[in-house]
Amino acid sequence: MNSDIKEILYSQEQIQRVCQELGAKLTNDYQDKKPLVICVLKGAVMFMADIVRKIDTYIELDFMDVSSYGNEMESSGSVKIIKDLDVSVKGRDVLIVEDIIDTGRTLACLASLLKHRQAKSVKICTLLDKPDRREKTISPDYVGFQVPNEFVVGYGLDYQGFYRNLPYVGILKPAVYEKN
Ligand code: PRP
Ligand code: MN
Ligand code: MG
Repeated sequence: MNSDIKEILYSQEQIQRVCQELGAKLTNDYQDKKPLVICVLKGAVMFMADIVRKIDTYIELDFMDVSSYGNEMESSGSVKIIKDLDVSVKGRDVLIVEDIIDTGRTLACLASLLKHRQAKSVKICTLLDKPDRREKTISPDYVGFQVPNEFVVGYGLDYQGFYRNLPYVGILKPAVYEKN
């Protein structure tokens, strides 16, 4: 285990199990819909890669780079589109794949943008949901785990750009961010 991690919250095995379960639901719900599945970079890359391989129907993938945190611990409140979609969402069933919903600002902004662009439906699949910190009313349609209000990293989630490559989700030791 990485020495900056206080505790593993969700192991590789637990994450794979949840991907399998959500993938089965998505396979059923999106049968014959040919949805556009959108990965929100960079945090959602690991979850996206794992979950789409558990969806057994026709899906198209696209990527969007949206950032609200920069290198800070707290959300800045503004959501920047760094890379937009390549594919039009007009008339499409859209599924947004996220690593975590925290304040809800990123997804509130993204979901309303995609609706404005006339997506037929917009649903959200998130690995982690941290409802304690919610500022915007946003309720995900598919959730892997509800997380306690701790600073979590790994499996795509970063602190100052690092820890994304950990294969599990863990709680960062406070000493790591207290020295900054
Ligand atoms: C993180 C995370 C979510 C968002 C959640 O992304 O990956 O996308 O913040 O926070 P919110 O619900 O308060 O908006 P971040 O902006 O740090 O970019 P990253 O995915 O590139 O790390
Ligand atoms: Mn993100
Ligand atoms: Mg981040």
